[in-house]
Amino acid sequence: MPERPLTRKKELAAYYTDLRVVDYLVAWGLGVAPGIVMDPSCGDGRFLAAAARRGARRVIGCDIDARTIETAAQTLAGADIPLSLHESDFFRVEPERVGPVDLIAGNPPFIRYQQFSGESRTRALASALRVGARLTRLSASWAPFLLHALQFLRPGGAMAMVVPAELAQTGYGIATLQALCGNFARVRLITFRHNWFEGAQQETFLLLAEGRGKSCGSAELVPLERIEQLEGLIAEPEVDDSLRLHPESDASLGLAFIDPAARGVWHALTRHPGGFQLRDLGEVANGYVSGANAFFHCRRVDAVSRGIPLEWLFPVARNSRSLAGLRFGGEDLVVAEDAGTPHHLILPRPEDLFSAEPEALRRFIAEGERLDIPRRYKCRVRTPWWKVPGLVAADLLLPYMIGTAPRSAVNVCHALYSNSLHGMRVFPGVAAEQIALGLLSTFSLLSMELEGRSYGGGVLKLEPTELQRVRVILPTGSDSALHQTFDEADRMLRARDYAGATRLADQVILEGQVGLSHSNLTALRHGRAASVERRLTRGRSNR
Ligand SMILES: C[S@@+](CC[C@H](N)C(=O)[O-])C[C@H]1O[C@@H](n2cnc3c(N)ncnc32)[C@H](O)[C@@H]1O
Repeated sequence: MPERPLTRKKELAAYYTDLRVVDYLVAWGLGVAPGIVMDPSCGDGRFLAAAARRGARRVIGCDIDARTIETAAQTLAGADIPLSLHESDFFRVEPERVGPVDLIAGNPPFIRYQQFSGESRTRALASALRVGARLTRLSASWAPFLLHALQFLRPGGAMAMVVPAELAQTGYGIATLQALCGNFARVRLITFRHNWFEGAQQETFLLLAEGRGKSCGSAELVPLERIEQLEGLIAEPEVDDSLRLHPESDASLGLAFIDPAARGVWHALTRHPGGFQLRDLGEVANGYVSGANAFFHCRRVDAVSRGIPLEWLFPVARNSRSLAGLRFGGEDLVVAEDAGTPHHLILPRPEDLFSAEPEALRRFIAEGERLDIPRRYKCRVRTPWWKVPGLVAADLLLPYMIGTAPRSAVNVCHALYSNSLHGMRVFPGVAAEQIALGLLSTFSLLSMELEGRSYGGGVLKLEPTELQRVRVILPTGSDSALHQTFDEADRMLRARDYAGATRLADQVILEGQVGLSHSNLTALRHGRAASVERRLTRGRSNR
């Protein structure tokens, strides 16, 4: 097929599937549900051609794009079985008109909600509701596409599709998975350690669903390294029974990629009575967005030359680099500002216009206007533009974007924090020091890997809802022992010995307190290392 202009290609999500994957899905599908095959977004017709070669009785294709349908017709010209091709928005095609079919195979278009709109989306969401999924307006097109498609199947029919990992990682994805489990007797997801799909920025799974008309409680995961391994899998994909994805509970897909010994230790620790999720211990909130960092931040030593009254300056943690140790205090502000990075937010009060500092505030506003700050997006949408909103005082500062060493710190100087970090206000009776120390242990580090999401570049991102699910076992023991361990971990972190601080937390909490054996701790560490390595590997192969 001739290359299409990139924007049109993106608009239609016209990225075609690797032929080895096409062949695998069609072979598996015709094995369990031989007969009529439909691809609802058939592109150049590669799934249908494979189906024709592998003995389908009839093939049906649909695509919204006229040129694409022509190409599919050429691809299938030599096939000697009945063929129908529909040039249409698939959501306009009704199951009663075309179905029933035995097998749906293909790769649905991945169009994000911002571009997926109008009548097509209204039809799509209504169709999803017919099979029990109430999808939100944030749903990308692939989700209702799968749910509309399954309505074309005869009882007992099957579905073999490429699906994005969002199926297990987003609210609307989980709702889709739930509906799939509610409509098929068995659902399997083949996952890959190495990303193989050029058009997808994220991980991709293969969905194998069979027995339309029955239901199952969970999906089974089949973890593979690379697509080359599909060849050996045609007959019956092996399923490890501990790898079930229960859509009604937290989906920890990452567990599929660590070895069974680490998984066993993980499951045992999640049941430990001293364990919590962060949401049991306090409230987690995002930090502020200034809208113009250079303008709204100031070093204490520069206040006079900028004409800023000292009482306007509030200490802040800017990002994870601000957090050198396990506590964030006045000395950290001094060190960071000596190194050149302002760690104070400028926060005039509206009453300053009338009382204490009217001249200073007028000058500050005039300087902002000279620099065009009020026109910046975040400033434009707030009143007054020079007052940064969303300020929270937190007991504990927590990570948002994670490389390999997630930083948390007790906020001893009551600093505000930007949206590069999260903050937690802990419930009465819980000590922030205990949480900070607990989060250093391998158990919590693995929990962050399992709850977070990673995009391009291999960075792990934890939104507040994901961070709230992170697990921690709090250190117990006397106050003096806790302070001693805390101080030692703080010193190690400041000396850039992150691994040492984690070993200390493991020794005190996992070995000393929980009684984890050395070999179990080693298994857990390998599990965490494998998760980090997998994320970084995918980051590299996505570039
Ligand atoms: C990811 S490609 C898959 C093509 C083919 N099944 C494959 O895997 O090689 C998605 C296809 O969906 C088509 N498409 C996008 N929106 C559609 C819609 N609403 N109805 C039918 N087809 C659509 C695009 O034209 C594109 O050919």
